[in-house]
Amino acid sequence: MKHLFDSNRAWAKNKKNDDPEFFSKLVAQQNPDYLWIGCSDSRVPANQIVGLLPGELFVHRNVANLVIHTDLNCLSVIQYAVEILKVKHIIVCGHYGCGGVETAISDRSSGFIDNWLLHIKDLYHRKRSEFSDSEDQETKVNRLCEMNVVAQVNNVCHTSIVQDAWQRGQELQVHGWIYSIKDGLLRDLNATFDAPDQVPAVYR
Ligand code: CO
Repeated sequence: MKHLFDSNRAWAKNKKNDDPEFFSKLVAQQNPDYLWIGCSDSRVPANQIVGLLPGELFVHRNVANLVIHTDLNCLSVIQYAVEILKVKHIIVCGHYGCGGVETAISDRSSGFIDNWLLHIKDLYHRKRSEFSDSEDQETKVNRLCEMNVVAQVNNVCHTSIVQDAWQRGQELQVHGWIYSIKDGLLRDLNATFDAPDQVPAVYR
């Protein structure tokens, strides 16, 4: 593992050369405007994609960027980001060709993780009528990747944390984006919410 420590030292030195105050400023506080909820996929590094520095992006990543109503890990991240850090934007960012999404609609088993991916299988099952048998697998996976982002954006909006923030009048937007590994570009899925009346009454 020596190469990782070597590379870390070089990185820290570079940062300090560029800005001698870089680390001392970060020690004082983190003040990010954004919470990023993305996939664990190693090809989708949150900060780098949007060109943000340490301290500028609060990050939660899991396989297939899921926001599950009872996931204490993800909910704690959202709560801390919204109530303590007071981020102004929550970005749910999926990516095309997501292995989690692909596995969920394949007939393969990947072991225990199949249970986590059941959430995507459920979504696929619910949206079944929107897919045709003639569609090739890649198109199907990519469309489901987009649908999954929108579903997770809704899940974020339905949490008591986001609902409470909006009721208090806190400025908070929730966005759904998707990233393409093929060209490194982000696309806005136009699933932005910033007020409680944009979600169905039962969730308000
Ligand atoms: Co993925």
